[in-house]
Amino acid sequence: MKLILLGPPGAGKGTQAANIIETFNIPHISTGDIFRKNIKEGTELGKKAKDFMDRGELVPDTLVVEIVEDRLKAEDCKAGFLLDGFPRTVFQAEALDKVLEKMGSALDRVINVIVDPDLLVERAVGRRICRDCGSTYHIKHNPPKVEGVCDKCSGELYQRSDDNADTVTNRIRVYMDETSPLIEYYQAKEKLINVDGQQDIDKVFDDILKAIGRTQ
Ligand code: AP5
Ligand code: ZN
Repeated sequence: MKLILLGPPGAGKGTQAANIIETFNIPHISTGDIFRKNIKEGTELGKKAKDFMDRGELVPDTLVVEIVEDRLKAEDCKAGFLLDGFPRTVFQAEALDKVLEKMGSALDRVINVIVDPDLLVERAVGRRICRDCGSTYHIKHNPPKVEGVCDKCSGELYQRSDDNADTVTNRIRVYMDETSPLIEYYQAKEKLINVDGQQDIDKVFDDILKAIGRTQ
């Protein structure tokens, strides 16, 4: 299964990605996670990406496309993959089409997670992430059993530096301007499926499976 998860910041892409990759046994390719890992490790790529991410702006297309192209060539992507947070511009989507064409491959579905913009800031600001295993929680909607501690691995939970109200607001604006045109782009290619992201996390996942044509 070759899938893209599309949706604004805080829509629940990362949350649903965890379920999808387990069910379909495919690798999770999150460009945001790749950049955060590079920032943590102090690489050149991380240094280039950091300022853009802290401001809630997009990292330049040329940097992103190269990374994804390299990743998709890996052996574990042959049978399928889940792209999360990529593509984010029409330029990136066109570049992805060319990469897949070169590989003799094609997308199956683009899952568009729809959430009212008014809910997104609260979702992102309340998010907490496990330092050790990357599991995502929400202080109100999906709290861990013990505050600040991951249920799965007992790791410490932290808040992303771009999850403050001002930066999230800018990320939503950037999404509307630069990324939302991809909804039409993939609709025209008859790849798009729309999912209501304002339901319980499990119900959103059920709807994704139904839309893909598979049950658990
Ligand atoms: P990235 O890491 O991709 O972040 P994002 O797209 O802004 O998305 P988020 O991770 O904020 O949200 P999500 O939809 O995954 O929500 P989650 O599941 O965590 O990008 C970060 C930055 O990197 C960008 O700003 C940019 O600078 C750069 N970047 C990355 N890719 C790029 C690219 N391709 N090109 C250029 N730049 C790029 O859920 C959010 C919260 O809500 C959680 O707390 C969760 O528990 C809760 N929640 C989830 N589902 C539900 C539900 N159904 N009900 C209630 N609460 C829920
Ligand atoms: Zn953990």
